[in-house]
Amino acid sequence: MGVVSGKLRWKSFQVLRTRSDNKSNENAHLDLNEVYKADVLEDCRTISGRRYHNVQGVQYFLPLADESREKWRLETLSMIWKNAHNGRRFSAPMHEKLEKGARILDVGCAAGSWLLDMAICYPKSSFVGVDISSEFIPENEKPKNVIYLQYNVLDGLPFCDSSFDMVYERCLISAFNKSRLITFIEECVRVTKPGGWIESHEMEAMFRGEVGPTTKRLLLAMNDFLKIKGCDARTFSTMSEYFAANGKIENIGVEKNSIPVGSWAGPIGALSVEAINEGWLSLKPVMQITLGVNDQEYNGLLGQVRIEGSKYRATYRTHRVFGQKIKNVSESENHRVAV
Ligand SMILES: C[S@@+](CC[C@H](N)C(=O)[O-])C[C@H]1O[C@@H](n2cnc3c(N)ncnc32)[C@H](O)[C@@H]1O
Repeated sequence: MGVVSGKLRWKSFQVLRTRSDNKSNENAHLDLNEVYKADVLEDCRTISGRRYHNVQGVQYFLPLADESREKWRLETLSMIWKNAHNGRRFSAPMHEKLEKGARILDVGCAAGSWLLDMAICYPKSSFVGVDISSEFIPENEKPKNVIYLQYNVLDGLPFCDSSFDMVYERCLISAFNKSRLITFIEECVRVTKPGGWIESHEMEAMFRGEVGPTTKRLLLAMNDFLKIKGCDARTFSTMSEYFAANGKIENIGVEKNSIPVGSWAGPIGALSVEAINEGWLSLKPVMQITLGVNDQEYNGLLGQVRIEGSKYRATYRTHRVFGQKIKNVSESENHRVAV
């Protein structure tokens, strides 16, 4: 079930014009196929020279993590966030267990920026990485304690109940609408051992503090786009509520961190702007449609964002949410509440 393979039909999808686009609502639908002239591939498509997923039902819209630019972006964010957490790779109280030997699942592991770092740090533990993409981790760089599985997690998690001591995801939940997110959390809980931990690490989709007008325009357009995809951007900062609503997760904790965006905050702030700008480039196909701008205009906006990065003192927050699967699952069966 569900492993990505075989020919997938190109599915046309439409984007509503949004408030970021001042034009009237006539002709309110744009056909992305027409605009992009994307080539039809099996499970990915190429837009402006970059490869994106093309799997029916999959709403993830960033490029594949095998290309060097996306890999650089994910590794840079990983490094910035680890630094912000004083070198701590996760927040759940798992360190001792990991030192002795634990089984860890990383869902949406991409090219393994968290997974490989963890596997090297904890050689007695075993790590499974799952991603919808074919494997991007070169065989000669893969530690012996890492297994990779290509799988579409919208079909569930392909593991038996209570298989892992910790299930981890980072920057994945934009791939889910609300009901899929609830199902995904249920799946994470199912495959976690009683007493094991589930951890989520997401960044907010809005900046805080002083934000320049162009940066704000791009952020609003991205939030509009997420809404069209059925993904509520507030989810990125409210995962603890989703964990609580699951009813089988206790001892829920949240660690928030403020990440500076701009050279005003020194080298980390400057690097942060570069990573964010790389993200805007990755999002270019969907952002151009949402904003109604051409290539040249979009590149102009990104130039402006860089200038604003040094002028304004913006930050964004990341949220690490962690919780423990209750030990007696049957007791909680009736405790579910709505999010
Ligand atoms: C933004 S990347 C985050 C990668 C990694 N967790 C990190 O923090 O560096 C999200 C990853 O989720 C994967 N993904 C998106 N939708 C998926 C799905 N339905 N099933 C499995 N993986 C998916 C993408 O292929 C991508 O590699």
